[in-house]
Amino acid sequence: MAKNTAAARLPRSKGTDMATVYEAKDCARKVKYLVLPERNRRIVEEFMTILDRKEEFEQHGVPIPNKVVMYGPPGTGKTLTAFHVAASLGLPLIVVRLDSLIHSHLGETGSNIRKIFDFARAVPCVLFLDEFDAVARTRESGDEVKEMARAVNTLLQCLDEFGDGSIFMAATNLETELDPAIWRRFDTRMTYELPDEADRRRYIRLLIGEFACASGAEAEACRLLGGCSFADIEQIVLKAKRKAIIERNPLGGSHIRLSFEEYAPVPMAALT
Ligand SMILES: Nc1ncnc2c1ncn2[C@@H]1O[C@H](COP(=O)(O)OP(=O)(O)O)[C@@H](O)[C@H]1O
Ligand SMILES: [Mg+2]
Repeated sequence: MAKNTAAARLPRSKGTDMATVYEAKDCARKVKYLVLPERNRRIVEEFMTILDRKEEFEQHGVPIPNKVVMYGPPGTGKTLTAFHVAASLGLPLIVVRLDSLIHSHLGETGSNIRKIFDFARAVPCVLFLDEFDAVARTRESGDEVKEMARAVNTLLQCLDEFGDGSIFMAATNLETELDPAIWRRFDTRMTYELPDEADRRRYIRLLIGEFACASGAEAEACRLLGGCSFADIEQIVLKAKRKAIIERNPLGGSHIRLSFEEYAPVPMAALT
């Protein structure tokens, strides 16, 4: 393997790479559809436009945004957005492995954080930190307070020093547990929500695609899957398609109902 690939230069911890590398091409392949609410779509588009026309912003002395935080319930497209951004910018996506980043040994977590940010300085990329709250928890709360406080301080420093050759993206389900000082470091913030009716319909249509469909199946899916995340909708519709294929029948409302019952999506309220 070539020594100069991103993967070959990844820092290691606990005997494993500290992150997984997805080349831009692989990122593009992962993002078949991304259904974003209008507000987030605009934010992402503007972000891309600015990065596309970097020089103009530099001429005006206006800093370029490159630190994005996304918060909202699971299965709403935060990780997918990171893949989309990397694909659109033609940069590799570096997905940090939390288990190898966070270390029980005092000081080790902070030094790991520094290493991964140093990597992002040396190699242009989209650096993605999922479950960001695990590192950025407010300094007052929880156990292991001292160690985490140090890690948070390191993270603050790294965010301040983060150059504009790379993009930092972070995702969390727990907005309220983030340290306010960290929160302020981000120039771009996006809230993710469960799909509303229009987005649910759009997504179900995309998932059904060209598949032969009995009349009313789509409407049944839209009705039944209200309150589900995108990820749940995807799983249920795919399951229903499998049932239809087994029967060699068009996709019908009964396939959707049965899949919904079998899959039994956990209601969001039960998670919080
Ligand atoms: N907004 C969305 N548009 C299209 N597909 C989505 C969306 N959100 C989730 N999905 C589907 O669910 C999967 C998991 O979503 P993910 O982006 O990992 O959610 P999150 O990071 O918010 O927990 C995605 O790979 C995709 O197949
Ligand atoms: Mg995710």
